[in-house]
Amino acid sequence: MSETAEQGQYQTGYEFVVVANRLAVNRITTPDGSTGWQRSPGGLVTALAPIMTSSEGAWVGWHGAADESLEPFDHEGMHLHPVALSEQEVEYYYEGFSNGTLWPLYHDVIARPLFHRHWWDAYRRVNQRFAEAAGKVAAQGATVWVQDYQLQLVPQMLRDLRPDVKIGFFNHIPFPPPGLFAQLPWRHSVMRGLLGADLIGFQRESDARNFQRAVRDRLGYYIKSEQIYVPLEDETAAPLEGFTADPARGTAPRQLSAPEDGTFRRSEAKAFPISIDTDRIVELANDPKIIARAAQIRAELGNPEHIYLGVDRLDYTKGIRHRMKAYEELLQEGKLQVGTHTMVQIASPSREGVESYQRLRDEIELTVGRINGEFDTMGHTAIRYLHHNYPIEEMVALYLAADVMLVTALRDGMNLVAKEYVAARKDGTGVLVLSEFTGAADQLRQALLINPHDIDELKAAMVQATHLDRDNERKRMRSLRRQVVSHNVQRWAEDFLRRLDQL
Ligand code: G6P
Repeated sequence: MSETAEQGQYQTGYEFVVVANRLAVNRITTPDGSTGWQRSPGGLVTALAPIMTSSEGAWVGWHGAADESLEPFDHEGMHLHPVALSEQEVEYYYEGFSNGTLWPLYHDVIARPLFHRHWWDAYRRVNQRFAEAAGKVAAQGATVWVQDYQLQLVPQMLRDLRPDVKIGFFNHIPFPPPGLFAQLPWRHSVMRGLLGADLIGFQRESDARNFQRAVRDRLGYYIKSEQIYVPLEDETAAPLEGFTADPARGTAPRQLSAPEDGTFRRSEAKAFPISIDTDRIVELANDPKIIARAAQIRAELGNPEHIYLGVDRLDYTKGIRHRMKAYEELLQEGKLQVGTHTMVQIASPSREGVESYQRLRDEIELTVGRINGEFDTMGHTAIRYLHHNYPIEEMVALYLAADVMLVTALRDGMNLVAKEYVAARKDGTGVLVLSEFTGAADQLRQALLINPHDIDELKAAMVQATHLDRDNERKRMRSLRRQVVSHNVQRWAEDFLRRLDQL
């Protein structure tokens, strides 16, 4: 096919394409037993849906079921292109390499990452499938935005297929320090995969720096401020497909000056901290029905003086056990009393096919049972533990009901729950206890910042939160709200896409 004919092939495609492991919709079953689709409630979909509908965009992603191929379909003005995964690919690519290797490795090895070659093979194969699906639907010169750690090879694979498109990548989770990243047997391929993007976004400055250092130390590329100079000969010498081995042992010699013009391509690695749909949360927090529901929740809990709230996916990165240990010790020491104080822990089910998640669930549920067995009274519970997903309306009612929000993650790319709590507290009350190991801690400096490994510090912050004088509480919350109101997820998407457009 001539070049013009080849280009012509893409004239009818989409100008804007999002590629993410998950499609922008979830399958739902209605009470009459029929199934349908519902837009995913997450911030990413909320931020990108308006851009998708106004700019003729398409979303490429997995629809969440194994061994099922679906034709493209439209939902609420979004064009959706499902990618099929076999049952074995769900096991090897999703549960295995994404959530058994990369997730723990990128979260400070809180759990032990497992390195299996057959998982890596599946990861490469599935990334290639996503790249091909995106390459098929993107118009000539389109913008393609690839999301998250499940798809780190897609940028370079897509560039090999479609050098005409502009490629952005955003990593929603932390990028590990180079010393930890170095454990990954396929570290070179992952870096080269990411460097296929024109713009690589990270949550924190330190994530962007970790990536730059890994690239400088391992690949030896020249880097000036946020610009990485990718030698073109590396791209043509070894296309990523079929690229498995580590090409060099140890540390690559570092390039000390910019390579000659025409011999490199630039890729920018930069922080773009994600946020939430602030307006939506504020709107819900003003809704009389939700305000009434918050009062009802307090009453159902026996109108305690202080409610501590934790809201997390049931994940070992979230520090749920640390927070329970601190709470248990405070009850034992009589510094908190059941009846006067209550903890509510929402733990939404997550990755239940992965062994480390199954173990965590057992441990948490054992701990809750032990604490409640020891401290509950007939009328009051120490910890109200709920292993469910709730709609955003119920979440906002909980935010309004809670006096103290506990975010004790041991490592977290951002933590949007912290930002949602702040957005919901429009009357300026409420205290946020926030782990310094979350991306959110870089922006929410007026929270009570803690190191969750330091149980005494965590306990002290929980006690401080209950005794904070109203002026101090309001001053902190006002400053936190200013940050969250002026930096919403729409602005995040605009900032990223504007920068990508400029490059
Ligand atoms: C994190 C990741 C997302 C992921 C989400 C839920 O926020 O950054 O990419 O979609 O967790 O996890 P799941 O495995 O259910 O998609």
